[in-house]
Amino acid sequence: MVQVAEAEFGSEGYRETLALRKRILRDPLGLEWTEEEESWESRERHFAMQVDNETVACVVIRPLGQGVVKLRQMAVEPARQGRGIGRGLLEGVEKILVADELDRIELNARDTAVGFYERLGFRKVGEEFVEVTIPHWKMVKTLR
Ligand SMILES: CC(C)(COP(=O)(O)OP(=O)(O)OC[C@H]1O[C@@H](n2cnc3c(N)ncnc32)[C@H](O)[C@@H]1OP(=O)(O)O)[C@@H](O)C(=O)NCCC(=O)NCCS
Repeated sequence: MVQVAEAEFGSEGYRETLALRKRILRDPLGLEWTEEEESWESRERHFAMQVDNETVACVVIRPLGQGVVKLRQMAVEPARQGRGIGRGLLEGVEKILVADELDRIELNARDTAVGFYERLGFRKVGEEFVEVTIPHWKMVKTLR
């Protein structure tokens, strides 16, 4: 069964998303956790895509206030990329955000992922900038 699940901070499901984030997003760039980032984790929402109970994708949603959230740490298991998992997760999370009456998603997209977010209805704003040593674009999507 394929499903989008919310993982409570500190739960086993949350730890599975942390392992995925480390392996896909951090290790290839040699990144470590920053204290600033860690301090946010308990105040963020953590979502996972599960296939037959295995966590294959994840994303973090940070509330910014006034109906705006920041989407970050989106990652799909490499062997499962390009098969609609990322779309499924993002569309599932968007439904939850709309039900919660949130208005807008912002994110900083790696240059290599901009096309993915554009397919999901995000648009670039501003100029390219460098974050964690790689080119990024700020992107936004209005939910309602
Ligand atoms: C980027 C990522 C999240 C996309 O997830 P995915 O499961 O591979 O994507 P999907 O198969 O659901 O693709 C959804 C759509 O986006 C398109 N797409 C996917 N990745 C793309 C990319 N890198 N560039 C352009 N288009 C892309 C697909 O063709 C598909 O189009 P369609 O549904 O309209 O036919 C995933 O590849 C990943 O984890 N990459 C490594 C980590 C990363 O870069 N995370 C984002 C950090 S900002």
